[in-house]
Order: sequence, then structure tokens, then C-alpha cells
Amino acid sequence: MPLTAGIPTLSTRRLVLRPWRADDLPAFAALNADPRVMEFLPKCLARDESDDLAERIAAHFREHGFGQWAVEVPGVAPFIGFIGLAMPGFAARFTPCVEVGWRLAGAYWGHGYATEGARRVLAHGFGPLGLAEIVSFTTAGNGRSRALMERLGMRRDPADDFLHPNLPEGNPQRPHVLYRLGRESYAKAGRNSVG
Ligand SMILES: CC(C)(COP(=O)(O)OP(=O)(O)OC[C@H]1O[C@@H](n2cnc3c(N)ncnc32)[C@H](O)[C@@H]1OP(=O)(O)O)[C@@H](O)C(=O)NCCC(=O)NCCS
Repeated sequence: MPLTAGIPTLSTRRLVLRPWRADDLPAFAALNADPRVMEFLPKCLARDESDDLAERIAAHFREHGFGQWAVEVPGVAPFIGFIGLAMPGFAARFTPCVEVGWRLAGAYWGHGYATEGARRVLAHGFGPLGLAEIVSFTTAGNGRSRALMERLGMRRDPADDFLHPNLPEGNPQRPHVLYRLGRESYAKAGRNSVG
């Protein structure tokens, strides 16, 4: 995959959110093949599908200057997954928009890494990137992801619930919830902590 050179590295107390490297790809493929990680995503990915996703992430960085950063935990693991900002490729009432998203290997859940990394990403989005709003969405049953959105101070309005246009009718993951965080609410909440 082409390297995402020139992309800023974002640091927190425990994490480094950095450009991707070719040697991240095997660990990325392993987490994309894990049914627990992929429970609320359309399907587990084969190695070539995982590599294609990494390539799309790199292309997003090239196009927008931000994207899903590779997450390293120095002293613990060189790559545990991604956390970042993305512009969804589908059309909905709330697009175009910038979403905050995450996918970590199961071994690294339950440590607060996603919260810590996502707070740093929000600070980058509302700070240097000057965004007015950041959203997040997931299939309604994805409790861990929704809990994370709530820890970040994001708010769901049931009126924003939507059927994901890329999922077929009858797919149980189709009903999605949308959480929003505006720059004003973010500033009022004291930006939480960036870890
Ligand atoms: C969504 C996802 C990133 C959430 O991971 P997570 O580990 O639950 O979230 P965090 O990293 O913020 O960790 C929070 C948990 O760590 C605990 N924790 C432990 N040490 C902590 C610390 N130092 N600081 C904060 N929390 C800590 C918290 O109490 C919380 O525990 P709980 O789950 O029992 O309530 C993860 O489940 C995932 O990658 N899922 C698969 C991919 C996916 O579904 N992505 C979204 C698609 S839309």
C-alpha cells in the first residue's frame, strides 16, 4: 500500500495515532477476519479484502488529509487497529459529513484505548481541521460502539435514525443510529481530556 507520508501523527498519554505502514497489514487482516470484531459490520474480510480496505483508507488520507489513523500502543503493540475521521461514501440526510470511527483488535478492548484515541481525533477535527460537526453512526445493536459515542459526549436524536443505504432490505444490521457532536457542545464540555 502507498504510505501515508505527510499525515500528522497524533499522540496521547498511551497511544500514537500514526500513518499506516506496510507491516500493519497482517495484523489488520487478522482483526478483520475475527467474527467478534466484525459482529456488527457486514462480514469478515479475507486478506485481499482487508488489504483493499487499507488502500481505501490510504486514498482517503491522500484526498482529504485526514482519515482512519493506525493505532500503536508503545511498549504494548505496534498496531491494534484504527481510529479516525472519514467522509462516508454514501448519500443520506446527514451527508456530506465527517464521521469519527474505530475498529480495534479484541485483545485491546476494555482498556479505554478507543475513548482516548477518539478524544484526540475529535480535538484534531474541531481544532486544526476546523470542523463544525462530527457524527458517528452504527447499527442499532452495537452497544460497545454506542457506549463509546456517549462517553465522547455525542448525542443521538431518534429522528436521525436511518436505514443504511448500502445494506439490503431485511438485513438485521440495516437500522442505524446517528450520533452528533457540534463544535459548540464540544467546547462547552471542556473537550473532555485528550489523555
Ligand atoms: C467499538 C470498540 C472500539 C469499543 O472498544 P471498548 O474497549 O469497548 O472501548 P474503550 O477502548 O473506550 O474502552 C472502554 C472500556 O474500558 C474500560 N477501561 C479500562 N481501563 C480504562 C482506562 N484507563 N480508561 C478508560 N476506560 C478504561 C472502561 O471501563 C470500559 O469498560 P466496559 O466496556 O466494561 O464499560 C470495540 O468494541 C471495537 O473495535 N469493536 C469492533 C469494531 C466496531 O464495531 N466498530 C464500530 C463500527 S460502526
